[in-house]
Amino acid sequence: MSEQPIEIDEQKAPPSDDEGETTEEAPPRLSSEPEHHSGSEESKTSTKSLSGSFLEEHFENGRRYCNETYYMPNDEPEQTRLAIAHQAYLPVLDGQLTLARVPLNARRILDVGTGTGDWAMAMAERFHNAEIIATDITTVFQPGSGPPNVEFELDDAEEGWTYNDPFNFIHMRDMSGAFADWNSIYAEIYKHLTIGGSVEIADRGMIQLKNEPPDSYVKAFNGALQSAAERAGRPIGLAHLDRPMIERAGLSFSKSRTFEVPLGTYPTDPVKAVAGKMAMIAALEGLEAASLRLLTRHLAWKEEEVRKLCEKVQEEVINPDARAFIPLQIVVYRKMM
Ligand SMILES: C[S@@+](CC[C@H](N)C(=O)[O-])C[C@H]1O[C@@H](n2cnc3c(N)ncnc32)[C@H](O)[C@@H]1O
Repeated sequence: MSEQPIEIDEQKAPPSDDEGETTEEAPPRLSSEPEHHSGSEESKTSTKSLSGSFLEEHFENGRRYCNETYYMPNDEPEQTRLAIAHQAYLPVLDGQLTLARVPLNARRILDVGTGTGDWAMAMAERFHNAEIIATDITTVFQPGSGPPNVEFELDDAEEGWTYNDPFNFIHMRDMSGAFADWNSIYAEIYKHLTIGGSVEIADRGMIQLKNEPPDSYVKAFNGALQSAAERAGRPIGLAHLDRPMIERAGLSFSKSRTFEVPLGTYPTDPVKAVAGKMAMIAALEGLEAASLRLLTRHLAWKEEEVRKLCEKVQEEVINPDARAFIPLQIVVYRKMM
């Protein structure tokens, strides 16, 4: 793997923030400590009350889910995975929290599907004059925790957005597979941005191997996961980052970058190797998390079959000769008028 970023698709002389599309390997740099908030395992299927809202809990295949729809669990292992994934993202952006140029005087910032809220809390510390609203359908975050300028809210982004004050910046990370209709999400984003405001959407593709054995388990896993997600009506992958689709909502292209995030300690640069280790831990922990519900429900696999395939995928991914990586795409769009 080359040590230098590789540009794949350079756009014409972009004005100010608009920098076109590139593909690069994740640059080294680690920063900040993980923040992890634990949840609670209560009963088999239950509801619990939080600030007047009733939260569902669904237990299946040994994992806890927040509803019948979203494919990823919300239990403690998942929270740990999210915290590690947040740390693995930082070196990709050279320690920054976003590719967008968020003005220092930004007044309102929205993080949709905030998870543990690590990104939102870090943003709140950097933009201490801004009000950060961090939403999710589940309370992996700890309401009332974090810096005073971050507010965690229970909110389903698939329901109509009801904010009556627009945002200077809207952020979504790892939301692939969460929504049935990205067109309506982009329409809401457009509606709820200030003129000149930006949105950043960051998502990861499927695990890839540079040196892939024929008929690899990784390929079988990726294929099964994608077809199950299609059947679920909430596709996973990067198709929702399609430029014409986002532009149809009225948003103007600013930049797009694609990174290859190494999984494992095979990079020769020691900092990249540490980052690769974290990314691999998050990716391996994510195998079962991403596949158990999708494959058992939508492809009628048995739990044991899913776990067995995950083990095989894990063996392939941890082999340093395979040089596993995850493509990560980050796009930034603006509302110009
Ligand atoms: C893979 S996690 C990513 C969390 C966080 N953005 C991050 O990067 O660490 C996806 C999050 O989206 C939330 N989510 C799923 N569907 C949602 C919806 N319809 N509205 C709001 N949040 C949603 C999940 O509960 C979960 O916390």
